[in-house]
Amino acid sequence: MKVLVIGSGAREHALCRSLSLDPDVTALHCAPGNAGIAEVAELHQVDALDGAAVTELARETGADLVVVGPEAPLVAGVADAVREAGIPVFGPSGAAARIEGSKAFAKDVMAGAGVPTARSYVCTNAEEVAEALDAFGAPYVVKDDGLAAGKGVVVTDDLEAAKAHAAACDRVVIEEFLDGPEVSLFAITDGETVLPLQPAQDFKRALNGDEGPNTGGMGAYSPLPWADPKLVDEVLETVLQPTVDEMRRRGTPFSGLLYAGLAITSRGVRVIEFNARFGDPETQVVLARLKTPLAGVLLAAANGGLGDLPPLRWRDDAAVTVVVASHNYPDTPRTGDPITGLDEIAAVDAPHAYVLHAGTKRVGDDVVSAGGRVLSVTATGKDLTQARERAYTAVARIGLDGSQHRTDIAAKAAAGEA
Ligand code: AMP
Ligand code: GLY
Repeated sequence: MKVLVIGSGAREHALCRSLSLDPDVTALHCAPGNAGIAEVAELHQVDALDGAAVTELARETGADLVVVGPEAPLVAGVADAVREAGIPVFGPSGAAARIEGSKAFAKDVMAGAGVPTARSYVCTNAEEVAEALDAFGAPYVVKDDGLAAGKGVVVTDDLEAAKAHAAACDRVVIEEFLDGPEVSLFAITDGETVLPLQPAQDFKRALNGDEGPNTGGMGAYSPLPWADPKLVDEVLETVLQPTVDEMRRRGTPFSGLLYAGLAITSRGVRVIEFNARFGDPETQVVLARLKTPLAGVLLAAANGGLGDLPPLRWRDDAAVTVVVASHNYPDTPRTGDPITGLDEIAAVDAPHAYVLHAGTKRVGDDVVSAGGRVLSVTATGKDLTQARERAYTAVARIGLDGSQHRTDIAAKAAAGEA
């Protein structure tokens, strides 16, 4: 099978790594990719938002399967263009990707499907905003309706800050605050059958102890030793399957990866958000634990044959990933700094620890930083304690001027806490 992956983050590197280890994959292409992906896939230039250009590249590479990683091309309808050309594609249509592209649409789907989520109001002017904030009280949760690369949400006790964020957006969703630990649960679906993956936890804040600004995600781990073993079955039954059924009922079937961001509250599981694609950095730890070869599963989702597959198989290992970010991330990051230590990790720490590239590029003999999140250092071990030790040993070998990373990824979970 020849596979073309669209995207350039650590998530796409994780996907390409798993696909490159799959004996059914005979050729692997990625566009635009990054310096790390270049080691496992042939890179191509493409405007990932241009459906015609992606389709043309799929034809040129003879792809039997196209995997669209990020949300922006999905929301722009890139998967529709590829599918219309008769090429199997893993990723939802633009209409179905609205479940991520519009928070108000997602709320409407959840209402239709009877899926538990935070109570909310959609507001388009200052009066509505003031009323909604008053109705729920602090802490205030204000969400930009549209795509915002994980940075559109403000959670604050400060009423003026809540109002200011709402004023900066066209349309906002204001909702009740959900307490309790967060879980990311991904499911692969062909629009009917839903195959949940193993749950993971993401660390969204920039600094240790969940302080500082929201980011795209600074680390992740799986499994969740503190979680109820019935969690996945429960979420399949109350969230994932009803949502997929509702999308089909509306005439916009969702195929691809449905990402449920969940809060485990004192009153039960609630959906915080849906995404229409693999999460980053959770994908790095989930795929590190998946034993079943990936390509056949993604192809079955693309072709509508998931119900015929045997159950997914998982390693008993735990996995931890630590994101190394540029100076000043999540504000405008500094780029162009050389990265050292990668060869040493490959020589000394592999195969238990390895580096997945996000914002990197090759300049001559050097690999240099080219984005906010630069690397996702991933490790497996017999438990979270060992996986953490291996991940942080590898992180310590990396030289990147001004870089930052959290030192507490999976620390509480390794000690048995949520
Ligand atoms: P989102 O982009 O919707 O995932 O939101 C980003 C982060 O904001 C989430 O991971 C939560 O930490 C936080 N958040 C979003 N909605 C709520 C809520 N209703 N209650 C508490 N925290 C929330
Ligand atoms: N890890 C959060 C996201 O991918 O949206």
